[in-house]
Formats: sequence, C-alpha cells, structure tokens
Amino acid sequence: METPHQPVLYQEIIHALQPRRGGRYVDGTLGAGGHARGILEASVPDGQLLGLDVDPQALALARKTLAPYEERIHLVQASYTSLSAQLARFGWDKVDGIVLDLGASSMQFDTPERGFSFAHDAPLDMRFGPSMLKTAADLVNEYSERELADLIYRYGEERDSRKIARAIVRARPIHTTRELVVVIEAVSPRRGDRIHPATRTFQALRIAVNEELASIEEVLPQAVAALRRRPDGSSVAHRVEGSGGRLAVISFHSLEDRTVKDFFREQSRDLVNPPYEQIYKEERKATLKEVNRKPITPSDEEIKSNPRARSAKLRIVEKL
Ligand SMILES: C[S@@+](CC[C@H](N)C(=O)[O-])C[C@H]1O[C@@H](n2cnc3c(N)ncnc32)[C@H](O)[C@@H]1O
Repeated sequence: METPHQPVLYQEIIHALQPRRGGRYVDGTLGAGGHARGILEASVPDGQLLGLDVDPQALALARKTLAPYEERIHLVQASYTSLSAQLARFGWDKVDGIVLDLGASSMQFDTPERGFSFAHDAPLDMRFGPSMLKTAADLVNEYSERELADLIYRYGEERDSRKIARAIVRARPIHTTRELVVVIEAVSPRRGDRIHPATRTFQALRIAVNEELASIEEVLPQAVAALRRRPDGSSVAHRVEGSGGRLAVISFHSLEDRTVKDFFREQSRDLVNPPYEQIYKEERKATLKEVNRKPITPSDEEIKSNPRARSAKLRIVEKL
C-alpha cells in the first residue's frame, strides 16, 4: 500500500524560496505535491506554480493534493530535463523560484511492484516513469560483466562491485528483486555496517535506469537560465521584492550532492584567465550566489519522525 510522501526539509524550502504573491515557481519533482502546496500557500492569492514529474501516479496524487489551487497551477507529466521547453510552452520567461527534490518518493519505494525495494519481491523495474527506456532487469540481463561492475562501483560506491557483477552474470536471467538480493547476499555478506548488502547495488541500478546524474547535469543550467535576475543594487543579505530568483536542490546521496555542489561553486565565481596561462578560457562573470555554503540538513526531530530524510542535503543559490 502506498504511503503518502512526507516532504523533506519543508520549512527550509519555503524559507529558501520565500514565495510571494504574484511570483512564478517551478517544482521539477512534484511527487505528492507537499512542497508545491507550501509554495502555493505562501504565495496567496495569485502565485503560480508549474509542477513536473515523470511518474503518472505521482502526478495523479499531486493533482488531488493541489486541487484547491487549480487556478494557479500547471501540472505536466514530463522530465525536469525539459524545463526550458515547458516554460516556453506556458510563455513563462523568468521564474522566481525552482525546487528540485531529487530521487524517489515514499510512494515509489513503498509500492512493491515498482521494484525499488529489496524488502519486497517484485519485478525488477525501478523506472520513475514510463518514459525511461530500460528497466533494471534489462540492465542486469543485457550489460556485460564489466559494464555491470563499473555501474555498481560508480553509482553505488560498492566495494564488492566486481564480485557482485560476476555473480549476476552467472545467475542470469534475473527478473525479480528477490532473485537479485539472493545473488548479492551470497557473495557480499552483511558486514559490520548497518546497511543491507543489496543497498548499494539497488541504488546504482536506480540511478542508471533513470539516468539520474545526467538528468541533474542537464537541468541545472536550464534552471539558472530560467531564474529572474537580481536587479542592480539589491543584495542577498537584504532580500527585497524582485530580488534574484532562487534554486533549491535537495539531494539524497553523495554523487548527487557533489554534482550540485560543483555546479553551484563553478557558477558562483568569476572566471578570469590567470596571467601566463597557456590555455585560453572564456572569461565570464559569476551567475549565482550561494545562499548557504554548507548544505542544510534535517534536524534530529525531522529524522526521528521521517527516517528517510536522514541523508538529505539542501543547497540554495540565488541568481545574480
Ligand atoms: C523525493 S520525490 C519529491 C517529493 C515532493 N517534493 C513532495 O513534497 O511530495 C521525487 C520525485 O521526483 C520525480 N522525478 C525523478 N526524476 C525526475 C525527472 N527527471 N523529472 C521529473 N520528475 C522526476 C520522481 O518520480 C518523484 O516523484
């Protein structure tokens, strides 16, 4: 049975975006619509929201949650990687805030037949939505041993990646989560650490199936381009109406967070050619200001009431 998704770092997201009347906002990962509802409530009476999700089930749920705001929302089944195209479709030139709450929702994890969880036996699917071309079973059964080992190592940061890849290839075909768990458990027994031996392999397959890291890399420049510029003279410390738009990203594992952090750092500094540098790089001014240098993490209280929030990291930038 589906569990409603509890929005992570909810107050922090609202505080980051400071939604205001008349503002335009994008939730690129709508899920159950928790963050979206907060944005709409904080921007009464006429703030608008464009919500995207690749998962038709999430969209249906969000439609219900957001029914009271029907006049102020556009909800679209689409990837956030199509952000620029979606904005153009609605004639939105610039927006005041964008939130990306990455990864899977509780509804996805807790619906056994979606195949995200090694705690239930189900077909090995793991697609966030029908637009993803391959299922986890396709990857597990079609990739070479080398490709599987690289994938599990890179996206799962799994030390036993080679052993696991070899065992998978020997046991193929593998169609269900249970079959995969049994194969992993046989070669990678539980160590002293708390996590189940299949955790990292499942994470790696989910990232690969949904091309999560490539999607983040694709959306970040589009998001920055879509944010309203800060008018001359205003500062991040003294936010006024009409100050630069903000992008808030919540990530749940180090690979995602590193991608977001590196992009934000890069865009937050002026690029100047050092004297005597052989290679000429294009000079450019910083486009962003990091609102928080260190990521914001959930309080102990939030983690207690929602253990899935424990690895969340929130980074916020403002358009200059
Ligand atoms: C952690 S949940 C978001 C929960 C939401 N913030 C809430 O308050 O209910 C992440 C959502 O992003 C969606 N998603 C993942 N990749 C996506 C992509 N490339 N484009 C659009 N949505 C995506 C997933 O289907 C999932 O519903």
